[in-house]
Amino acid sequence: MTKTESQMLIIFGASGDLTARKLVPALFRLFKENQLPEKFVVLGVSRSYMSDEDFRKKVVSESSYLKDSIDTDSDLINDFSKKFFYEDVGTQYDTDYKHLEERITTLNAKHGTDGNYIFYLSTPPSLYEAIAKNLYGQQLNRSRGGGFKRLIVEKPFGYDLESAKQLNSGLQRYFKESQIYRIDHYLGKETVQNLLVTRFANSIFEPLWNRNYIHHVEITNAESVGVEKRGGYYDKSGALRDMFQNHLLQIVSLIVMEPPISAKAEDIRNEKVKALKSLRIMTDVDTLHKNTIRAQYVSSSIEGEKVKGYREEEGVNPESTTETYAAIKFFVDNWRWKDVPFYVRTAKRMPTKVTEVVIHFKSPHHQIFQDSGMFNKDNKLVIRIQPDEGILIKFGVKVPGQGFKVERANLDFYYSSLVENHVMQAYERLLLDAMQGDATLYARADEVEAAWEFVDPILDYWKKSDAKVYGYSAGVWGPENADELIEGFGMWRNPGQNLADDPGFCVIC
Ligand code: BG6
Repeated sequence: MTKTESQMLIIFGASGDLTARKLVPALFRLFKENQLPEKFVVLGVSRSYMSDEDFRKKVVSESSYLKDSIDTDSDLINDFSKKFFYEDVGTQYDTDYKHLEERITTLNAKHGTDGNYIFYLSTPPSLYEAIAKNLYGQQLNRSRGGGFKRLIVEKPFGYDLESAKQLNSGLQRYFKESQIYRIDHYLGKETVQNLLVTRFANSIFEPLWNRNYIHHVEITNAESVGVEKRGGYYDKSGALRDMFQNHLLQIVSLIVMEPPISAKAEDIRNEKVKALKSLRIMTDVDTLHKNTIRAQYVSSSIEGEKVKGYREEEGVNPESTTETYAAIKFFVDNWRWKDVPFYVRTAKRMPTKVTEVVIHFKSPHHQIFQDSGMFNKDNKLVIRIQPDEGILIKFGVKVPGQGFKVERANLDFYYSSLVENHVMQAYERLLLDAMQGDATLYARADEVEAAWEFVDPILDYWKKSDAKVYGYSAGVWGPENADELIEGFGMWRNPGQNLADDPGFCVIC
């Protein structure tokens, strides 16, 4: 096990929802699993006044996100909460951090954290550069006295290519790229990391992983919820910015990439950048028109309950054209993938919550069993990111009896069968990696920019053209014309709640 050095985690935006909802529960699980260093403290920083005790209550001992543990592990919770401290920066983040620096120095001396600091920016991105500048102003970016200094930033990394470049160069003015960790929580998911292992730790998949054997690749990311309380943010973002530019293109890069020369962070990230740069950028209106679909959910009734349409959600402009559904078809311009279409869709208010990758293989080039019913039933490799995590291979078997009737059978593996292992949740894994200085699962500046380069023209086209915004009833698989993107096989695979469910099966939850 890699040793985690003594350190301090300084969270900016500590009074916000993400800290209590994601970061602190992840830290608690690490604490419970004995994965935190013995000398470890958390300093919460934000604009509102709170004492250390108030902060401990808010994010630990009275947090609804730790409710179960508070009831069952009260002693552990108590020990854990003693690691938390709080400091406010006054009324704004863009200010002199002298006081903050003094508090950090005092805590460091008292708790022996060896000058190792991670600054976690859980604030709106518009504040990132100012915070980095003010940390720099106190030389908190420098490895003085030997301790490491790292900066973790949350998405969104920019609003488009231009702003992403500005953000990257703004941060790089004060911190080196090697100190900057851009978190994408999908990379923290075991099943996303398993894409690398499936491809590169086996000899049975990689020889087939190319245009000679793969007919097309399909990725579905569906959520059953709507925009919930985030209408204000979402309306300025939309599905393409919120999910596609980051999480889904990260998944795409892992499918598309060439084998890295080693599992080192830079070797893997170099290949991912190359993969993203090989996506064919769509520029002309006709191509964009044929290969992109956007839509919005409209009100409907699910299990007898009326569900609001997107435009009726709180914080959303009643005339909004922001997409809650995006489906994109694209190609990858390289040797391996020439002419293989990729179909990727993401949406809110779908029939179920599911993320999966489906590799559709070509039919055997010489059909022996012509009347078998096998024709056009392609082999599929389904990689289930969530829920019911696992892998399924669909292949043909002979139906017992006379002749050669072929049926499709499933060969499946479920993560849940690995019961003895503690499966780390995304934030838990990513925080531990950053604490150990492993940036493999974090996005590099050039990766982020390459992803924007692909997405920008689509956003531009949707904004400036009269590209239609279709409607779909909340609770269905998107607009009726969504299948028009997929030629030949003709339709999306609409996955059910469980890995082995046949397409079309669904539970509305
Ligand atoms: C976030 C998006 O990054 O990912 C949300 O901003 C989305 O809109 C969420 O709901 C989905 O994450 P997960 O892990 O639940 O699939």
